[in-house]
Amino acid sequence: MAATTSTAAHTDRLTMNLGSTTRAQGVASRQRSRWLHPAVKPALFAIGLLPFAWLFYGAWANTLGANPAEALIRASGDWTLRFLCLTLAISPVRQWFNLPPLARFRRMVGLFTFFYAVSHFLSYAWLDQGFALDAILRDIAKRPFILVGSLALLLLTPLAATSLNRAIKWMGSSRWQALHRVVYGIAGLGLLHFFWMRAAKNDFAEVAIYAVILAVLLGWRLNRWIRSKHARATG
Ligand code: HEM
Repeated sequence: MAATTSTAAHTDRLTMNLGSTTRAQGVASRQRSRWLHPAVKPALFAIGLLPFAWLFYGAWANTLGANPAEALIRASGDWTLRFLCLTLAISPVRQWFNLPPLARFRRMVGLFTFFYAVSHFLSYAWLDQGFALDAILRDIAKRPFILVGSLALLLLTPLAATSLNRAIKWMGSSRWQALHRVVYGIAGLGLLHFFWMRAAKNDFAEVAIYAVILAVLLGWRLNRWIRSKHARATG
């Protein structure tokens, strides 16, 4: 009798565990399919444009402070670095939270990085240098942090230009992937640009935050690469 009761209890526990596993799987799959909703992409696009709209409004309404030109250049630089971090965060977050649909947004977030980098460059070229090409070139040669930023933007350009599926087909997947690995170097240059600029002011607090974020995101990739190399060697 006691044996029958304990078997029944065991079966109940098993059924409950299976039930909660199925429920957890259901919740996870519902969460994943939420990201596939057709409204998500346009909503994220609108969110990505918000900082630009906010800065545009600030410039128009003159609410950017005593030095609006400097505020615009700096804020657009900050948003470039933030979108760069977001672009690099998609793959690890996809894996950590088991959210494969996030891959759909990588191109859009990457293109926002380019959009903010171009806005940053244009606000510098216009508001700081009056669009005088000779003055811009002299400044790039004179100030190393501007040179490093320019190099980052130069390297970003082919990545943005080859972001369409057609480019992947045309280049072949492995060549396309090799080119897009340049983004890791761009992250390093962006950080160096920021570090160099803030070094002149002896202000490293924000630079340190970005350095930690990028170290985690790039460290995750390095770890994945080492593991896959090890697996290939042993398997
Ligand atoms: C991927 C490329 C780039 C990234 C990620 C980037 C990022 C940044 C960041 C984070 C700042 C500091 C903002 C702050 O202090 O809050 C900054 C400032 C600045 N950047 Fe860039 N930048 C890039 C490219 C460029 C380019 C191409 C130029 C010009 C040719 C440039 C010129 C400047 C200038 C003039 C400042 C402000 C310096 C100051 O106010 O003293 N940047 N950038």
